Amino acid sequence: MPARLEIEGGVSLRGSVRASAAKNAALPALAAALLSAKPVRLTNVPDLVDVRTMIRLVETLGAAVRREGEEVVTRVERVASDVAPYELVSTMRASVLVLGPLVARHGSARVALPGGCAIGVRPIDQHLKGLARLGAEIAIESGYVVARASRLKGARIATDLVTVTGTENLMMAAALAEGTTVIENAAREPEVVDVANLLVEMGARIDGAGTARITIEGVPELDGATHRIIPDRIEAGTLIVAGAITRGEVTVTDLVPDHLTALLAKLDECGVLLEVGHDSVRVRGPERPRSADVTTSPFPGFPTDMQAQVMTLLGLADGQARVTETIFENRFMHVAELARMGARIDTDGAIAIIRGVPRYQGAPVMASDLRASAALVLAGLVAQGRTTVSRVYHLDRGYERLEEKLVALGARIERRP
Ligand code: EPU
Repeated sequence: MPARLEIEGGVSLRGSVRASAAKNAALPALAAALLSAKPVRLTNVPDLVDVRTMIRLVETLGAAVRREGEEVVTRVERVASDVAPYELVSTMRASVLVLGPLVARHGSARVALPGGCAIGVRPIDQHLKGLARLGAEIAIESGYVVARASRLKGARIATDLVTVTGTENLMMAAALAEGTTVIENAAREPEVVDVANLLVEMGARIDGAGTARITIEGVPELDGATHRIIPDRIEAGTLIVAGAITRGEVTVTDLVPDHLTALLAKLDECGVLLEVGHDSVRVRGPERPRSADVTTSPFPGFPTDMQAQVMTLLGLADGQARVTETIFENRFMHVAELARMGARIDTDGAIAIIRGVPRYQGAPVMASDLRASAALVLAGLVAQGRTTVSRVYHLDRGYERLEEKLVALGARIERRP
């Protein structure tokens, strides 16, 4: 049976906890190493299932990877294979991040189409349209995207929607293209900026990362680099909500407050007391949160990756709240599980109406995706009695020892095999 977490609810969390490094910055950074023959040394790399999957993937493409603690050195002297196999891509959609680097460096890539996933259809049409603009020939063969180009050529690309990994893929590809590329409607997420910074350290010429227009002057080759991955704003946010929901007093350190602005503003609206430091946030939970409406949107808006966790908090608020999910069409999988713990939530398409209840009751619940799992753990922390969260492998994909961090703050959680 896959591992599960058993949580005895009702402890107010107290103490200080460090945010780990960002999964969603580490994954593209590992893919970026494919762009150079020289070693790319990443420090502060989180030890997560998804990171291990990405390491396995770049190894199958020819990378020599050495991992020592939080440091990962990746060297791709030559690309040995251009195939990202279905077995890996189907377990992790972010595998598609090797597409741009492979075409740019090697001239060809065959990447399995990711297909559906728990939170929606998630096509990669924008990645493909962008690469085609850069001159790649794209075909779909037996479930694989096959992309070819002798040398990519800079172009003006306007994506139809804001896509995080799409922006990263195109930026990486354009780094080795001939001439200038402009990406309009680019994602502004801190993880995009982090990859741009790594690429610049490798010798790329990139301007405007963090704005909606990124300009890339292609160079013939890239060098090695040493780069520290940014803190995980979603893990940090999850820990902040853990402090708030348990009426605790928690300081989350090693984070970048500017990456958390929308979340902190929303928590403030909910009556959560926050003290924002230079690289930390101290949170004190109110007796009962106030309700507030939430609409997810691309950065700097409220992140979809925090929607489930904040809904868990709103489920206990005094009043009615509306949560609108605009990024993914099927990201309310936690609702039915929260209902099993006593939450009163109705959904209609992309909208959830939450009528706050005074308390949750512990129950057996099932994780369905990464952030939904985190939401259920948060509910378990504050519920009366015992909550068993099964299928925690979803959680392990993106949180580094979350239960150990929570236990260090006083939570009663045990992992059972
Ligand atoms: N979309 C398209 N076509 C595309 C690309 C995206 O229609 O070619 C749609 C998606 O289906 C979605 C929306 O555009 O409805 C935004 O998707 P985006 O491409 O931005 O998502 P992503 O790059 O696949 C990253 C994170 C997700 C995070 C989203 C949104 C990584 C590895 N993943 O995904 O993280 O939710 O951005 O911020 O960076 C997570 O960590 O739990 C997670 C799911």
